[in-house]
Amino acid sequence: MTVGVQENPREKLVVNGPDEFKKMPEEYQNLVIRQMLVHTEGELSGADDFIQLFYPMTDDPYEKFVCCERGAEEVDHYMRGAKILHDLGVDTTFMLKTPLQERQLYGTEAVKDINTWAERGFFSFLGEAAVLEQLKEMLESSYKPIAEMAVPVIKDEKVHVAHGYRIIRDMCQTEEGRAEAQTALNRMWAVALDVFGKSDSERSKLYLKWGLRKYSNEEARQRFIKMAAPKLEALGLTVPDNIKGRKFL
Ligand SMILES: [Fe+2]
Ligand SMILES: [Fe+2]
Repeated sequence: MTVGVQENPREKLVVNGPDEFKKMPEEYQNLVIRQMLVHTEGELSGADDFIQLFYPMTDDPYEKFVCCERGAEEVDHYMRGAKILHDLGVDTTFMLKTPLQERQLYGTEAVKDINTWAERGFFSFLGEAAVLEQLKEMLESSYKPIAEMAVPVIKDEKVHVAHGYRIIRDMCQTEEGRAEAQTALNRMWAVALDVFGKSDSERSKLYLKWGLRKYSNEEARQRFIKMAAPKLEALGLTVPDNIKGRKFL
């Protein structure tokens, strides 16, 4: 199915690649590029998080190994996004030249600021889990190269999230560890919920209209809360307020 399917709204829009993309309205083109720019920069910053922030934080050789492996995978995810953009004539090498702290596209601040090992655990257990939910929406993207990209990236991200869960679960084995985890959670809960963006975002509505997203920002956030809150409670943690500390409301 190709361009022009809007004539029959019951048929799902599929834009197979750059040639069909060029025939799409400007609104669609701009949305695909914006979505991919944000996603691709986020992946590169993820790589830098593992290498620059988390790697020096730990004295555990296995955790250092994990940081290196994750760093490599996040760079791979960056390259996959960069390829999609390159094929649309958009160059992303500027991202490689911009230091982590100066990148402006990806709105979640915690990619630049993780201070404790418990926060590192939640970065994966909650932060990467929030990104994973967005990737699952991309599986059904109307732009086929995005849907195809999401498959291998999701496979990696599931492992990243599971490791974050293990870090927090192990920490919660002692009273002291659980208190540390709770302190980190009190900050990182808002960070994870912010990954979904502003509730009244106009762009979010356009992503839905063009089949580039499946849920609105707020719907996606509520789904995430429903999924994550029971897991936190099962570890004896208290789920913080859903509004407090949020940057994007
Ligand atoms: Fe990633
Ligand atoms: Fe990841």
